This record gives sequence, structure tokens and C-alpha cells, in this order.
Amino acid sequence: SHDPWQDAMDHAVAVARKSGEMIREVVQNQDQSSLVQTKSSAVDLVTETDQKVERLIIQSVKSKFPSHRFIGEESVSSGEPCILTSDPTWIIDPIDGTTNFVHRYPFVGVCIGFAVNQQVEWGVVYSAIEDKMFTARRGRGAFCNGRPLQVSTQTDVHRSMVATEFGSDRDPQVVDKIFSSLHKVLSLPVHGVRGAGSAALNMCAVARGSVELYYETGVHVWDIAAASVIVTEAGGVLRDTTGGALDLMSRRIVAANNETIATRIIAELEVYSSERDDRA
Ligand code: IPD
Repeated sequence: SHDPWQDAMDHAVAVARKSGEMIREVVQNQDQSSLVQTKSSAVDLVTETDQKVERLIIQSVKSKFPSHRFIGEESVSSGEPCILTSDPTWIIDPIDGTTNFVHRYPFVGVCIGFAVNQQVEWGVVYSAIEDKMFTARRGRGAFCNGRPLQVSTQTDVHRSMVATEFGSDRDPQVVDKIFSSLHKVLSLPVHGVRGAGSAALNMCAVARGSVELYYETGVHVWDIAAASVIVTEAGGVLRDTTGGALDLMSRRIVAANNETIATRIIAELEVYSSERDDRA
């Protein structure tokens, strides 16, 4: 039977792979340091490749699905609205882990999520340097290169591994909050704290059971939309750092293997806010 959302997902996998080839080509052959521009702060980076890859994705999707909407990291930064309506919407981060990309630190993800009625139906995260294709469709499981993913079964926080990021806000008050949360989490104690340098790849690490939980304040909808369904389809849970339900536009996320670990870590986190992604 005809399944238009599956056609869209198949297209996303193909265009993510092609985007990854472009990214690998640049990483292997070009010095990125000369091409870097900055956005919200001196350390919030964007490159010509982010913009090129986003254009490639949007153009190829538009020609196949002309009525669909888009929220793309680079389109929003050039003034396009960042509103999730009930229409079919592609949510795109051409390079999640731009700082990694610039420094040739080999964890960058091409993120393509697809929401209808404000619910993410499927997500594709392609770890371009590792050549790992993470995919999930709502109700149909999560996979890496076709192999099923399952979160960790650990419920003891003292035997858990936690992922987080330092983000790109260098406001001393924000940095203090980041360190306060980190101090409390580390000294629970937990086995370790890691950060891949990509929100989406940290979430994929939860999905495959490498870390029990990932948290961050300051993420954007395009960093987390695609990976959100990969986490839930692998059996994980999504929350706000307040403990409430995840709000894709709120800039705060907790992705965990289960409610026990989520609740225990959330109790240690400082809650603070970044400006919402969907501010008018
Ligand atoms: C960023 C990365 C980073 C995280 C930031 C994100 P970008 O995305 O995921 O690890 O700390 O919050 O915005 O800018 O590389 O697409």
C-alpha cells in the first residue's frame, strides 16, 4: 500500500548519505579554519559547508514533496520562521557538531526529522565520518545501519555513564550553571561523563546503550528532532530538564534509558532557560 511518510523517509536516508559524502570530502581535503563564520556568539560556528548541505537537502526535498514545510538551522539563521505547524515539516540540521567539523573531530551528524501534527514521525541521523546511519520511525523501532538499537537496562545511577555538552554560551552565569550541574552529577558519583560534541550523536549513544542519559540546556529543535524518535523507538524516554514533558522548542533536553535514571539525574540539574526557538 502507498505510504507517503515512508517515501519521505527513504528520500531522507538517501539525501543524508549524499550530504555525508560532501562533508567527508571537505574534512579530507580542505582547511575549514579559513571558512568559519560565527552566529550567536564568538564560539557558535557556521561554515560554508553547513549552508551548502542545507541547500542541497531542501532543494532535493522540495522537488519531490513541494507542499512540505521546512525548519532548517541555516534557513532560520537567515530569517526564515521557526514555527512547527500541523503541516508535514522537515526539521534539518545539515551539520550537528559544526565545531567538531571545523576541528576535524570525527563526530558530525546530518540530522533530518519529519513532523506531522507536531509529532515526529521519523528521524534520520547520519554520522558521516563513522559512516553510521541511525534511523527510526514511530512505532517501528530504531536502527543503526539496519541493526536494531536498544537502550541500556541499567537502573543504578552509580553505574551509569552520562553525556552532556558545554554548548556555545560563554556568559559566566550560564557557565556557572553548567559546572554546578556537572559537579553534582559527577559526584553522585557516576561512572563517567562524556560528550561527543553533537547533541544528536549523544542521543544516538543513549539509543544504542553506550550512555544511560544525555542532558543539555541550549540545544535547538534541529539538533534534537530527528534523534528524539531514535531514542524513544530504542526504548528510551525524553524529558525537559524541569522534569516535565520534552518541548522541542524549549532549548532543554534530557534523553535517558529509563524513568529511574532520568528522575535521579534531573534532581541534580540546574534549570535555566535560553530564548525559545519559536519566539515570534
Ligand atoms: C550544537 C552541537 C553541540 C551542542 C549545541 C548544539 P551545531 O549543534 O550539537 O554539541 O552543545 O547545543 O547547538 O551548532 O553544531 O549544529
